[in-house]
Amino acid sequence: ARRALQTVAAASKIPEFAFAFDIDGVLVRSSDPLPRATKALSYLQSQRIPFILLTNGGGKHESERVADLSSKLDVQIDTSMFVQSHTPFADMDQYKDKTVMVVGGDGDKCRKVAEAYGFKTVVTPADILSAYPDVWPFSQQLLPYYSNFTRPLPAPIDPSSPSTSLRIDAVFVYNDPRDWGLDAQIMKDVLLSKGGVLGTLSSKNGDTSLPNNGYQQDNQPPVYFSNPDLLWAAKYHLPRLGQGGFREALEGIWAAITGGPTKGVELQKIVMGKPYKPTYEFAEKRLIAHRKAITQTNNKDLDPLRRVYMVGDNPASDIAGGNNYTSPYGTDWASILVQTGVYVEGTTPEHQPRKIVGDVWDAVAWAVAQEK
Ligand code: G3P
Ligand code: MG
Repeated sequence: ARRALQTVAAASKIPEFAFAFDIDGVLVRSSDPLPRATKALSYLQSQRIPFILLTNGGGKHESERVADLSSKLDVQIDTSMFVQSHTPFADMDQYKDKTVMVVGGDGDKCRKVAEAYGFKTVVTPADILSAYPDVWPFSQQLLPYYSNFTRPLPAPIDPSSPSTSLRIDAVFVYNDPRDWGLDAQIMKDVLLSKGGVLGTLSSKNGDTSLPNNGYQQDNQPPVYFSNPDLLWAAKYHLPRLGQGGFREALEGIWAAITGGPTKGVELQKIVMGKPYKPTYEFAEKRLIAHRKAITQTNNKDLDPLRRVYMVGDNPASDIAGGNNYTSPYGTDWASILVQTGVYVEGTTPEHQPRKIVGDVWDAVAWAVAQEK
């Protein structure tokens, strides 16, 4: 591998391979960089081998997140080489003039991200609790905390007047909820309301005799989850529940109330993030554009990207996504599993990677050796 590393160093040709690195469990554990993460990324930058960071994490604007990572890893990272869970929400122009609910994250950081993306009317579950404390009896003790960042609602909750009552047109789960109880209750209220009109009950609420009078629609507003991860690698030595854990809890509540999928009442949801194809398509386009930018060659001189090494710690997201992604550009996505996160060394991963290695530096060394 050392000879290979020198080989690439000697090459002047723009490499036809690149990397996509997962973050949690590969480069950092919560806020702590992993031992050889800086060495790996610095080496690639010294060799002008392109890479992007592709994470199911989020909760801050991309610019804030890359500034944090650049300082923690002591490697210059910019937003052109960064894709996080809710990045694709920025392209959802069809909702930007509507009233949307943003769920998850610290304080109202995610509301601020949504507004930076161009969403004009953003409501959070804490806004509703502050305006109507009885909506969730068990977070009263948090009202003083919430009062630091809640906003007045754009309309009252008044089920007697459906046309003027607060209506949520879509729900976006940006990051892990900090108050699962409040967020599950409010999302249940929205998703089982008549067309998003807060304070109403749709027939799906398990009682088909509910009157449908005066309401335009009985349908469930769409809900977008930005991250499917049931588990993720934080600082604790065992994996922690992720946004997928919250979604499973909410789907349990949905099934208990409506009968759920067994009764044909699916929660209509869109789950984004790794391992799903749209996320990898989005990431590949970002990587191709970034490679062109850093090689400063005009497009006709640059040979196409032949291979992307997807380095991750979670077989269910990073490895499954890398293995199953079929690039429209014919690029080979080769998954590499590291043992510094969710995956436990010595066990059989649920999705078999191209290679299993110790850590991110081993991943880079092995990949470069394949390219010599
Ligand atoms: O919330 C972050 C967690 O789901 C995993 O993030 O970087 O390992 O995709 P990452
Ligand atoms: Mg990870």
